[in-house]
Amino acid sequence: MEKEKLISKKEIKNRIKELSKEINDSFIKNEELVIICLLKGSFIFAADLVRLINRRCFIHFIKASSYYGNTETSGIVNFSEDIDIDINNKNILLIDDILDTGFTLKKITDFLNKRNPKILKTCVLLDKKGRRKVDFESDYIGFVIDDVFVIGYGLDFDEEYRNLPEIYYVKEL
Ligand code: IMP
Ligand code: MG
Repeated sequence: MEKEKLISKKEIKNRIKELSKEINDSFIKNEELVIICLLKGSFIFAADLVRLINRRCFIHFIKASSYYGNTETSGIVNFSEDIDIDINNKNILLIDDILDTGFTLKKITDFLNKRNPKILKTCVLLDKKGRRKVDFESDYIGFVIDDVFVIGYGLDFDEEYRNLPEIYYVKEL
């Protein structure tokens, strides 16, 4: 595989600091927060971000996967693990690695909204705005990127490359 660096460690770090400020300042200040991270892709981003959240928070995980052929999503989103807490009247921040077609976050936010949270906001590290197939926008966005397949910093290609400390795009498979 041929890959090229898209976002450096330093850029990621700086942007996450800014994002955490946005979240700390505007997300129902001082009220406790239930953070739900989508596995597996967001594990590194979420780990860095939550350490900058300066209030009482509780962290949970949902495992979601949309079957990825090669670098294309099928649009069918599966949950293999759900949260085991009551989110009724809670402030929820849902974290994912990347917003692409929007199928995943649309489905999961619809599903969580049925449980009547007080507020549900979403945060993604990356947003491929040009790829949307359903109407969905995230409240907090790290970087808007072009339509390229990216790996590293939690993002995989066929389960590999999640451990790369920066974000690369795939030039050739
Ligand atoms: P969506 O449902 O199409 O918005 O896709 C969201 C999910 O697809 C993300 O949580 C990722 O797991 C995966 N995904 C989308 N684009 C990429 C990419 O460029 N690299 C790695 N995974 C991706
Ligand atoms: Mg994912």
